[in-house]
Amino acid sequence: MKNFDFHNPTHILFGKGRIADLKDQVPADANVLIIYGGGSAERTGVLAQVREALAGRTLVEFGGIEPNPRFDTALKAVEVIEKEDITFLLAVGGGSVIDATKFIAAAALYDGDAWDILTSHGSVVKDAVPFGTVLTLPATGSEMNFGSVITNSEKGAKLPFMSAHCYPVFSVLDPEVTYSLPPRQIANGVADAFVHIIEQYLTYPSAARVQDGFAETLLRTLIELGPKALETPNDYDVRANLMWTATLALNGLIGAGVPQDWSSHMIGHEITALNDTDHARTLAVVLPALMNDQRVPKREKLLQYGANVWDIREGDEDARIDATIKATRDFFESMGIKTRLGDYNVASADIDHIVAALKEHGMTALGEHSAITPEDARRILEAAE
Ligand code: NZQ
Ligand code: ZN
Repeated sequence: MKNFDFHNPTHILFGKGRIADLKDQVPADANVLIIYGGGSAERTGVLAQVREALAGRTLVEFGGIEPNPRFDTALKAVEVIEKEDITFLLAVGGGSVIDATKFIAAAALYDGDAWDILTSHGSVVKDAVPFGTVLTLPATGSEMNFGSVITNSEKGAKLPFMSAHCYPVFSVLDPEVTYSLPPRQIANGVADAFVHIIEQYLTYPSAARVQDGFAETLLRTLIELGPKALETPNDYDVRANLMWTATLALNGLIGAGVPQDWSSHMIGHEITALNDTDHARTLAVVLPALMNDQRVPKREKLLQYGANVWDIREGDEDARIDATIKATRDFFESMGIKTRLGDYNVASADIDHIVAALKEHGMTALGEHSAITPEDARRILEAAE
């Protein structure tokens, strides 16, 4: 196991009715900016619950954060912070709203050009406005981590940044607010969380027994409960387990002390930057092709994953790996998520663009061995056609 630091300061308030507890979490004297998305939080009554919990406080609202949140929109919220003397932010929504809030929190206290935050992957961030979240879509783990991904349509770029100043102070996780999610978003959330776990697990053995065992349990939980969430949409225990699984998938715990491979994400981000394909769907396209392409460096973990997650134990090693990759692809497809580039209008000519974008964004040494180059990504994408 590698040396590691693990410090996660986010206070989680989990369960039914917990939005009411915002009154004890948001500082009483704060000027609060509530940040939300395209209107689902209004329609589903989540915003009404938030306003009720914070009745009597100084509240300003900023709606209109897009899925795959946009740089320009976030900068408009920064202007509101300055104008209204805002001292605390509250994100109400899915990963996009929370990611935007992290960026807004950092940009409000950054003196230079806010684009630096993304090109430096967060290293220029020295402070951020404190913020909490009310999560409405279990998927990204953004509610309990320090990462954010922002899209700049003008530059055709979707870039991540990380900063220890960007952990939420608290996050409210009420599984009941996820009942209103359409099947597409439920499936996306399960696939995204699944690939988060895989990217911290499917590398090479590092004698990290707890992290491996934890990751395998989380994967099996998604495989069992993902389809159930689609079949029985109002099952509280299914939603509660999915919500907590997605949070644990990317809150630093299973990634502590182990090698990591974020190449499916980095290649996937370029597909979204190209044509706005849902984040999770880009991952479901890239991952099966990447697993097959990287079957030599990932051999031992592929066999372990096949045995412990899919119970694939018969046959020679190559046959077991083939069956494991097929099981992974079939799982995404069973959730209604297509796994080929052609399913998302990405043509052969677009692969050149994606490869060029990876180079431009410095994504030239991906994977757990920093050995996946843009030309390797080209081969992986061609296999995903
Ligand atoms: O915009 P509104 O109207 O709120 O509607 C949203 C949006 O259309 C809707 N929705 C959210 N909660 C709902 C709901 N509809 C009905 N009922 C509810 N309870 O769902 C749609 C998708 O929302 P979005 O926030 O975009 O989805 P998700 O949570 O999957 O977030 C995706 C974004 O997170 C980034 C992705 O790249 C993408 O930009 N990621 C962030 C990560 C992180 N910070 O750690 C890691 C991930 O790998 C990921 O890259
Ligand atoms: Zn993701």
